[in-house]
Amino acid sequence: MSKTRIQYRCRDCGSVAPRWAGRCSHCGEWNALEEEVRVPTPGPGGRAGGTGGTGGTGGAPVSLDTVAEAELAVQPTGLAELDRVLGGGLVPSSVTLMAGEPGIGKSTLLLQMLSAVARQGRRGLLVSAEESPAQVGARATRLGLARDGVWVSADADLGSIRSGLADLRPDVVVVDSIQMVTAGDGGAPAGSVTAVRACASALIDAAKPDGPAIVLVGHVTKDGSIAGPRVLEHLVDTVLSFEGERHQGLRTLRAVKHRFGPVGELGLWEMTPEGLREVADGGAFLLADRRPGTPGSVVFAGMEGRRPLLVEVQALVARAGGAPPRRVVSGYEATRLAQLVAVLDRRAGVPLQRDDVYVSAVGGVRLGDPGADLAVAGAIASAATGRPAPADLVLIGEIGLGGEIRQVAHGPRRLAEAARMGFTRALAPPGMAPVEGIRTIETRTVGHALDVVLAAAPARRPRLRVLPAPGQETAVARPGPGPVSGTSGRPPAAEQGWFS
Ligand code: TYD
Ligand code: MG
Repeated sequence: MSKTRIQYRCRDCGSVAPRWAGRCSHCGEWNALEEEVRVPTPGPGGRAGGTGGTGGTGGAPVSLDTVAEAELAVQPTGLAELDRVLGGGLVPSSVTLMAGEPGIGKSTLLLQMLSAVARQGRRGLLVSAEESPAQVGARATRLGLARDGVWVSADADLGSIRSGLADLRPDVVVVDSIQMVTAGDGGAPAGSVTAVRACASALIDAAKPDGPAIVLVGHVTKDGSIAGPRVLEHLVDTVLSFEGERHQGLRTLRAVKHRFGPVGELGLWEMTPEGLREVADGGAFLLADRRPGTPGSVVFAGMEGRRPLLVEVQALVARAGGAPPRRVVSGYEATRLAQLVAVLDRRAGVPLQRDDVYVSAVGGVRLGDPGADLAVAGAIASAATGRPAPADLVLIGEIGLGGEIRQVAHGPRRLAEAARMGFTRALAPPGMAPVEGIRTIETRTVGHALDVVLAAAPARRPRLRVLPAPGQETAVARPGPGPVSGTSGRPPAAEQGWFS
């Protein structure tokens, strides 16, 4: 038997220290270390669906070619978008963490999932530590869900949950939320790092061979300050992140860790009074409110996992008025924007040092794909000049520090999706295989790319921002009427006088 010992865990980053200190040596947070009893590491042969087990070898090393491949009996949940993210469905006796901000829709999604599981003749149990069975029932009615085969318990005591699992033998269990589960009298208070870890470990044990697939709900805040998800990530098989702008209708789900399949797939839902509605056609949903012809708006042909997705990217450029210029992003990385602003300045002659720059991916989508750079650059240049980008154009490409446009993966799939959505031209790095119905305008430099984006239309309003110095009023080249193919030999935008 291993001796239990005391150790100290950071409430913020979950790292462990042998001794208490005022500040976490890992993340630097003050007063974040909490005392906990060390949880002994599970012995060999532990988990089944979860890959922790050693398959009965007693822990002795075995040659890999003698090991039988585990058959993953993936069970569809019945919610197509959730199954897409999970790579088919939930694996029996696995443990999944569903992390998201309070109010984002976790309880709604998981109740819909349990009902879908029950519709397939399997048994679902909701351990509802935050809402009473009556409230859950009212929610099911409001969402129009079948209640048959869905069981609910409001007892958040760990012992009760375990005996409930033993009695009911459900196929899928949702624990909502892990922060509310208590480990009985004398245990650490619910929600503390110690309690969250201990309760999660006990539930993970309960998922052992032949146990149910367990989904633990974990609330996070934007700064990650509520104990839970971060300290659990390494304990569970799968971590799902449910996100969206609180006041917008779109919800996205991604796997950030997945032992049974690839991460990166995106699930999309629209929030409605009747619950979450699956969005199968993401592009149509995300472009529905677009107003073509507005300066600062372009369309990015993106990829989310294996799914092509068209996203409107908007930018706004405004005078900073003497204060340090602000770089504000929504759905795009702030450091990436800072870099792009510098590249636009140095490589394309777009001066933004005295301007606030706002960039937003519409609909609350997160642009993790590096191929979004060109669209962001196009949106900024369009906003800075007041010139709308062509309405039939999508943009694809990563931008290097030298202002060069770099290749992106899955070019043809992006182009095909853009063609399906009615776009006729794509500004893209060279060498992309052609796709019927859409013409590719190859571009190698950000300067040339901006030529194409800004060429089609005159500025919407007179440009008051940049006044030529006396004597320099001449030689402002007017852009030609149409788009430019290949390397045009035209001077970059800066030299045409579109920017100062
Ligand atoms: P809820 O699922 O309770 O969020 P969480 O469990 O993540 O805290 O949803 C929050 C509120 O939003 C709740 O009052 C129900 C409402 N809601 C809808 O009306 N429609 C929806 O599609 C969703 C997801 C939520
Ligand atoms: Mg909830």
